[in-house]
Amino acid sequence: MKIAILGGTGTLGGGLALRWSAHHEIAIGSRDSEKGKRLAEEYRQEVKERHDGYERIQGGENTEAIRDSDVIVPALPYVFIPQMAKMIEPVVKSHAIILSPIVPMEKKGDHFIYVDQELSMQENTKGSAAELIAQYLPQTRIVVALNTIPAIMLSKFDRQLDYDVFMAGDDQEAVQVIADLLKEIPGLNPVYAGPLPVARQIEGLVPLLLNLSRHGKMKAPSFKVISTNIKEEVQYGG
Ligand SMILES: NC(=O)c1ccc[n+]([C@@H]2O[C@H](COP(=O)([O-])OP(=O)(O)OC[C@H]3O[C@@H](n4cnc5c(N)ncnc54)[C@H](OP(=O)(O)O)[C@@H]3O)[C@@H](O)[C@H]2O)c1
Repeated sequence: MKIAILGGTGTLGGGLALRWSAHHEIAIGSRDSEKGKRLAEEYRQEVKERHDGYERIQGGENTEAIRDSDVIVPALPYVFIPQMAKMIEPVVKSHAIILSPIVPMEKKGDHFIYVDQELSMQENTKGSAAELIAQYLPQTRIVVALNTIPAIMLSKFDRQLDYDVFMAGDDQEAVQVIADLLKEIPGLNPVYAGPLPVARQIEGLVPLLLNLSRHGKMKAPSFKVISTNIKEEVQYGG
């Protein structure tokens, strides 16, 4: 597969490039072509001793990276979603999968809060970053994942991972493609949480994690959900 990582020059994008290059072609996108190329070279050097996929990492400008990509990861701050969508729209392959790790979040005083996105749908006008992307790019298939995984843990090979990765999306085939990609990273366990509106719940967990880190002194906290093995059917609500 060809995976484009827009803003692949940042912490999250870099960690994904290092790991996925073992099996896939990776295009590191940046607003600045030279920066994209420079970071791609840095990642190649880092990967060289780990696996033989280093030549599969290339860098350049964001729109170049998108071309012919099967999966696009916008690893950018949420405020740039509208700009990013305009950039993707003319070059994206129809039915390409967009994996959104984006968390709309801001700091308010001494804590972090979730920032609802304005959607233009009639009934529910507030939503997640992933739904906003879906609204801008209806020809693509959106899967939300990785939001709760600390990028700093992905960025170095010697860091042991042991996390559940919550996923949401409407297209089951796209969800499966992303789940398979996530399983290629040792220590990540993808768990499907439901259709795209569930994205808001997943993204909304991240300000909590940052508040736990800041006030509860937890280092790079994330999630591993406890599930029981009792035989009875467990149902909440109706
Ligand atoms: N950091 C984490 O632990 C973590 C974990 C899970 C999810 N996330 C989410 O993943 C996304 C990326 O996180 P990150 O920490 O890697 O972000 P980041 O380092 O702050 O930024 C990533 C890249 O975004 C690009 N960028 C900055 N301003 C831009 C603009 N005006 N237009 C287009 N691109 C711009 C930059 O690339 P160029 O300068 O090369 O264009 C930058 O390297 C965020 O939405 C974040 O919420 C982060």
